[in-house]
Amino acid sequence: MRADQTAAWKNLGEHAKAFSSFDLRTEFARDAGRAVHFSQEAPGVFADLSKNHWDAKVETQLLALAQQTGLLAHRNRMFQGEAINTTENRAVMHWLLRQPVQGASYESLPTALKLPLKDVHDTLNAMLAFAEKIRADEHITDVVNIGIGGSDLGPQMAVMALQSFAMKGKRFHFVSNVDGHELDAVLQGLQAEKTLFLVASKSFTTLETLTNALSAKRWFEAQGGTNVSRHFAALTTNVEAAGQFGIQTCFGFWDWVGGRYSLWSAIGLPLAIAIGADHFRSFLAGAHAMDQHFLNAAPAQNLPVRLGLLDVWYRNFLHYTSRCIAPYHSALKRYAPYLQQLEMESNGKQVDHAGQTLPYGTSPVLWGEPGTNGQHAFFQMLHQGTDVVPLEFVAVKNATHALPDHQALLLSNALAQAQALMLGKSDTDGHKNFAGNRPSTFILLEDLTPFNLGALIALQEHRVFVSGAVWGINSFDQWGVELGKVLAKDIHARILSGDVADLDASTAQLLHKIR
Ligand code: F6P
Repeated sequence: MRADQTAAWKNLGEHAKAFSSFDLRTEFARDAGRAVHFSQEAPGVFADLSKNHWDAKVETQLLALAQQTGLLAHRNRMFQGEAINTTENRAVMHWLLRQPVQGASYESLPTALKLPLKDVHDTLNAMLAFAEKIRADEHITDVVNIGIGGSDLGPQMAVMALQSFAMKGKRFHFVSNVDGHELDAVLQGLQAEKTLFLVASKSFTTLETLTNALSAKRWFEAQGGTNVSRHFAALTTNVEAAGQFGIQTCFGFWDWVGGRYSLWSAIGLPLAIAIGADHFRSFLAGAHAMDQHFLNAAPAQNLPVRLGLLDVWYRNFLHYTSRCIAPYHSALKRYAPYLQQLEMESNGKQVDHAGQTLPYGTSPVLWGEPGTNGQHAFFQMLHQGTDVVPLEFVAVKNATHALPDHQALLLSNALAQAQALMLGKSDTDGHKNFAGNRPSTFILLEDLTPFNLGALIALQEHRVFVSGAVWGINSFDQWGVELGKVLAKDIHARILSGDVADLDASTAQLLHKIR
């Protein structure tokens, strides 16, 4: 049933009316068990959801909403391999990429998925063997990933996040922008015979990536490079197109892996080279542990379910339209951009599965920066601005560096910010008054390991699944990116020819100025 036609939706609407007077400070004073009740352990991750604008009554109705919209049945369809990406008639099985071939979860896997799983493991083994070969090859000092969107953000985020596990002696570069300045700057520091280019593109048709790949190949040849098959590898579902491009070394994946969900596939090769096969397997194991939690934990103790339902409550009932992401770990520098694609490309939709316009909001705007830096920039708005913006902290208990003082200072800042947002401070001088009662979620990892990062990312994937399922949208297509691509082709021809016939006046004027 569509979300807004359920009894739970109506009840939530009633509850929301009372929320104009909801105050976190009163709630904590009233209920000594609040912190515990609204906290959740999950594999690799602990989350404190208690400083959010909700209570047990709201959560009960949200769970009823999940039930009335068929969330669990939809989840089960994904794990059964059904084609829930209906507009592209594709299954959604990024989770199969982290499925082991033994144990209880393997035993309960539908028989029809055991064959594709064999392919998954054959490819994984080949890719990890290649990663180990590159790691052992001292002549390769630089690995350049050329890709965009899901073929860039995931591996880039993870290579940075796990830099303390990365091997020394190799540098990793990520080129995504069609702006030649980016590739040019990277190429200037490279030597052809010491460089491995990874051309990462699910479709192998993406203009930015193919343009960069072609320029990289021209540069390689101009530098005297001859052995393309040693220095270029493709990560793609379109092995044929990669071959036509002249790349023989290919690691494939499948159409049932969405671009923004592809980090676990061959697209993860830069990460595998950086951290090695064993750590990469541990990264997959963390994600698999989260898959099992999502699949098996009761909804009321299921972290992706609880987070996704909170997202629906905020978006549709309290009308908070954005979420700020604040990782308190400098290596999580690319975590917010990664989540932006994951959530906004998945759930930035305005129609249901049948293509009917929805009468309620869907994806919030996600944005953010590493924690302490944000404090000295936009946190002013979070504390005293006119809009309520829920903040999502991610902190890591243990540091891998040996510098004294820093870690305790970093973590005290994270805790203090969450506390300040909630508690506020009254002052008769309005400029110095903090109203408080600002919501936040606090996610805590023991260590930033491959296992825990895998679990954290899978948690975010499933949480996006949950809100998308409740909203009744297809979280796995991205038609909204197509129009701009088509128009860019037309404008590119016009920039070259100067033809402005039938263009709107604004575009025509800009085109004149550009030429
Ligand atoms: O244009 C959007 C998009 O299709 C994303 O969904 C995808 O991650 C990105 O482009 C890159 O696509 P590809 O991996 O096929 O080059």
